[in-house]
Amino acid sequence: MTSITNISPELKHVWHPIGRIDSFSETPTRIELVGDPYVVVRLDGEVKVFADVCPHRYARLSDGVVVGSNIQCPYHGWQFGANGKCAHVPALGAEATLPPAQLTAPFVQEKYDLIWVSPLEPITDILEIPEWDDESLAHVWMPPIDFNAGAAQAVDNFLDFSHFPFVHAGTFGSEKDLLVTDYTTERGEDGWGFVVKYPHLIENHEDPLVATGEHPLVQERFMRYDYRVPFTANLRLEIPTTGMINAIVFWCQPVNADTTRAHIVMIRNDCHTPEDFQAAIDYENRIFTEDLKVIEFLADKSVPLDRGQVHIRSDRHTVEFRRILLKLLNSSTE
Ligand code: FES
Ligand SMILES: [Fe+2]
Repeated sequence: MTSITNISPELKHVWHPIGRIDSFSETPTRIELVGDPYVVVRLDGEVKVFADVCPHRYARLSDGVVVGSNIQCPYHGWQFGANGKCAHVPALGAEATLPPAQLTAPFVQEKYDLIWVSPLEPITDILEIPEWDDESLAHVWMPPIDFNAGAAQAVDNFLDFSHFPFVHAGTFGSEKDLLVTDYTTERGEDGWGFVVKYPHLIENHEDPLVATGEHPLVQERFMRYDYRVPFTANLRLEIPTTGMINAIVFWCQPVNADTTRAHIVMIRNDCHTPEDFQAAIDYENRIFTEDLKVIEFLADKSVPLDRGQVHIRSDRHTVEFRRILLKLLNSSTE
């Protein structure tokens, strides 16, 4: 049986988000990705990412400080520039020939206000978000959420729709939504993603006209999931009764064997005031907390990709999700 975990080595060949660009400053930050530690620091205004280990005696650079344009190691004060090269060794004096010490840097890019890292040469690119530049929609960012489950388990749950009436009975889940009717899964052109469209019924507790009796509580909602390897999905929701559009972009960072960090932005047309933003964040948090009550207690932190679980018709797209991850694990990258 082949399973994926947060530290499967093939995950080093794909892009992962590690945080909002403006969350990183001149104060070095330690992050983990696929089980490995990195230091993230702004040098000369630009965010840089290096393996969090000094080549001299392996101290943590994230415990160091920025001096001028360099990051300084906390142990013996060696300094490294934005290109990762050793720039100063206090014990050798100012005029010395410097040792050929070089920090290890992963592949880095900025996209969707996030820093993205691929530890080794990436073999795929990042999911396109068609809603991102739509000026009629507001970007409502959730604070990053750390939880005790695998990134594959979290995305599997995010894509799944037969759990709504059970797990989300306290928010939008409706007992009128038990049956999953037939639907199709369209594979992406390069084989690293798919699109699923599915209409269903929800209880719309976010609609103020429900309380006044102008709208019914149970409303039809159109969902379009756009999944891309390894742990990204954009769920576009539309509710014709209210005219709401909300694209929930769910990006999971596999931190280490037990922990995942979710980076979530809602791109929606119904948030105008700070109160609207906060209400949307609070409601999404309630929904995600309902999911965590299940996914943090699944049998282990991995997802079996070929055998070992029982699938039914309504799992068609989460089976496709497993097939794509299996293709990633089988891809020859060396
Ligand atoms: S361990 Fe970093 S300077 Fe010695
Ligand atoms: Fe859920």
